[in-house]
Amino acid sequence: MKFISRTSSRKRYKNNPVSGLKDKKILLGVCGSIAAYKSVFLTRLLVKAGAEVRVIMTPSATSFVQPITFATLSKQECLVSYTREDGGQWNNHVELGLWADLLLIAPASAGTLSKMANGHCDNLLLGVYLSARCPVMFAPAMDEDMWRHPSTQANIEKLKAFGHAIIPVGEGELASGLNGPGRMADPEDILSYIDRFFSPPPSVLAGKKILVTAGPTYEHIDPVRFIGNHSSGKMGVAIAEALAAKGADVTLVLGPSNMHPSPALRTIKVVSSAEMYAAAAEHFDSLDIAIFAAAVADYTPVEVAEQKIKKSDETMELRLKKNIDIAASFGNRKQPGQFSVGFALETDNELQHAIDKRKKKAFDLIVLNSLKDEGAGFKHDTNKVTILDADNKQWPFELKSKEDVAKDIVAMIETKLS
Ligand code: PMT
Repeated sequence: MKFISRTSSRKRYKNNPVSGLKDKKILLGVCGSIAAYKSVFLTRLLVKAGAEVRVIMTPSATSFVQPITFATLSKQECLVSYTREDGGQWNNHVELGLWADLLLIAPASAGTLSKMANGHCDNLLLGVYLSARCPVMFAPAMDEDMWRHPSTQANIEKLKAFGHAIIPVGEGELASGLNGPGRMADPEDILSYIDRFFSPPPSVLAGKKILVTAGPTYEHIDPVRFIGNHSSGKMGVAIAEALAAKGADVTLVLGPSNMHPSPALRTIKVVSSAEMYAAAAEHFDSLDIAIFAAAVADYTPVEVAEQKIKKSDETMELRLKKNIDIAASFGNRKQPGQFSVGFALETDNELQHAIDKRKKKAFDLIVLNSLKDEGAGFKHDTNKVTILDADNKQWPFELKSKEDVAKDIVAMIETKLS
């Protein structure tokens, strides 16, 4: 990992307070070094970034900073020894090691680096280190000569070979009066380093222009009646939100629905199939990806009565005409590099219908949901889908929340595009 300059990381945290550290469990080990005072600031920064922090000090660290300082800032008891003052209780090092998402030793003194490299276990922090299954990072701090000493460098290499990360030391004035390498990295730089560690790499979908259709359409018969369907818009909105979370530039064309999509989406509200087609088609040429989750009426009345139709005969005939198929229309003009995903809502012979629809509408993927499956399809908060690709390869999924189904669909698109 590359070291980030202090200025750039400071700027970054000012501009982007939401970080990959949110809700992460950080176990901060503080060793006996004057740099322990910097870990007080580090604790504050970690907590501000949304991390849950627990601090373990080595006994010698308490000569530099009082445990109560860390306890106050982390809002958790600061632990120093295996046994507790209230007697009969002990601090379970295995439990602590399993709790953490990251064990960060900062400052890591020459003594603790040596003990950890060689499996010593004569204090709580060392016991926790040996039990930890999470990633471990060290921010060493010591005098220049100690840092350059071959035994320290050998210990560093050994710890790296164990798979641990060493946060580069800074250079400058040291507590000994010397000027050189050995200073613990500044708290902002440590924060930036571990934030980058936790932040997932950018998705292939970041910045992609994506259209999602969602919800039902209403085809007016007269001013009070329409032909509609049971779609709530939940599935399509969940997909649009999941794409936006990946950094995509999402346009959601949403039929009549009670959903309130996040303002991060560009939402165009429509009512009829014709309106949905017009709103979607405007974007067709500039799209990277189109996802058709809407339940669009296949037919619409030939004429819409201007006044409410009065009840008269025993039967009544309604003449309908075919609507434009939005997905098929996109499929016909699709350019190389444009990717499309359709849905198939079926009640019988599901797989064959889905395969036929995928071909007919030139979808790269089709998401099959069947009304035969309990909890799947319209209105529910859940769905059960099978995704099929152009080679008819199938990925069946369990019944899950529509948000999780959306994540599965988005992950499948990412896989296909990468
Ligand atoms: O909105 P929810 O309550 O959460 O329910 C979700 C859902 C059941 C609506 C959704 O999961 C779903 O299956 N959507 C597609 C329903 C459907 O109309 O399927 P279809 O088999 O009739 O159409 C096939 C594909 O063509 C679909 O991608 C559809 O959006 C598209 N289509 C169909 C007709 C048309 N005129 N234009 C289209 O774009």
